[in-house]
Amino acid sequence: ASDVESDLVNILFTEEQIQAKLAELAKQIEADYDGKDILIVGILRGAVMVMADLARAFHRHLEMDWMAVSSYGSGTKSSGVVRILKDLDTDITGRHVLIVDEIIDTGLTLSWLTSNLASRNPASVEICTLLRKPEALRMPIDVKYVGWDIPNEFVVGYGLDYQERYRNLRDIGTLAPHVYS
Ligand code: PRP
Ligand code: MG
Repeated sequence: ASDVESDLVNILFTEEQIQAKLAELAKQIEADYDGKDILIVGILRGAVMVMADLARAFHRHLEMDWMAVSSYGSGTKSSGVVRILKDLDTDITGRHVLIVDEIIDTGLTLSWLTSNLASRNPASVEICTLLRKPEALRMPIDVKYVGWDIPNEFVVGYGLDYQERYRNLRDIGTLAPHVYS
């Protein structure tokens, strides 16, 4: 019972399904940004896997940068206030920016981040997320690229953690009840 994989009870998306979806998204993004330079911005830490695989699904040049953000206060995200722990190294003035994350839950993180980046006078700012939970959304957020909409249940794997574990799983799924007890 030491393999992390054995804690997954229900696999929602396999490695193969995830890779196929990212290839599809990359193709669509390449077409939409034809003739434009793209800067993809990954949101640490959850987006590491999606960034790595999405970037490698592209057949054209792109640049990559990273941000780390954290919510203020008691560890909850309910305030909607976000603090930048690591800012971009790139000046995005006049750039086409595509924010990449692995999940949109309440939408608070990316809603705040989108307006923060938009205030820096980029040519455009769009969002690409692998997963979104429509039932959990707490504010309207314009997401151009979505892998899958999923029910409002706790999922782990492929960057998604439970108490910092399970990020390294190749599949995405839900945890066995014993993990929580
Ligand atoms: C998670 C996830 C998204 C964000 C989505 O990150 O990776 O970035 O929450 O939640 P929201 O839509 O409710 O704002 P988290 O802040 O837990 O940090 P992590 O990426 O380091 O796991
Ligand atoms: Mg995150």
